[in-house]
Amino acid sequence: MIAIEQITKEDIIQDYITALNNPEINKYLNTKEATKESIMRYIKSVDDSNGYMFKVIKYIDYHRHDKEFMIGTATLKNIDWNIGSADIGVMVWELGKGYGSLAILEIIKFCKNTGLIKLNLGVNPSNYRAIKCYKNLGFKETEILMELDLNTHQD
Ligand SMILES: CC(C)(COP(=O)(O)OP(=O)(O)OC[C@H]1O[C@@H](n2cnc3c(N)ncnc32)[C@H](O)[C@@H]1OP(=O)(O)O)[C@@H](O)C(=O)NCCC(=O)NCCS
Repeated sequence: MIAIEQITKEDIIQDYITALNNPEINKYLNTKEATKESIMRYIKSVDDSNGYMFKVIKYIDYHRHDKEFMIGTATLKNIDWNIGSADIGVMVWELGKGYGSLAILEIIKFCKNTGLIKLNLGVNPSNYRAIKCYKNLGFKETEILMELDLNTHQD
């Protein structure tokens, strides 16, 4: 079972820091070098901007006693209560096992209960796993973003 719960600074466990510094996981994230302090600042910035940040929890039944493990995080930022929209971001550190999809379903449940009606996200076009995950859940492509790399641009 997968659940989401509001994150606190006690949740900045080593697995979380290690995941953010793992090139396989951070390849398409802005974060490349995370520390406990930088994560603490990030959690505070989400809080200060009236967003929501969650830990993603996996429950495993050990001889009928549930044991819980944090396996990722999820954020809702840039919330516009007039439109009822928010930007969603998800990271799990057990990739490709369906946990990301289940976490997003939990966020969707949370959003519906909170009165939000639209979720937006941006994803790198090479992040095939994420795109597949989002499309499976019903996300649709809405806009084309472009960029120009001025380091390599020929005059
Ligand atoms: C994006 C992310 C949250 C998705 O969660 P996940 O648990 O890994 O994904 P899921 O297992 O739920 O779904 C992945 C889907 O992509 C498919 N997939 C996996 N690798 C793939 C690849 N290279 N190309 C295409 N599809 C791929 C899987 O088969 C699955 O689809 P299916 O259920 O139809 O078989 C997770 O991979 C992650 O945290 N990645 C690192 C951080 C990141 O990139 N976050 C997103 C930023 S926009």
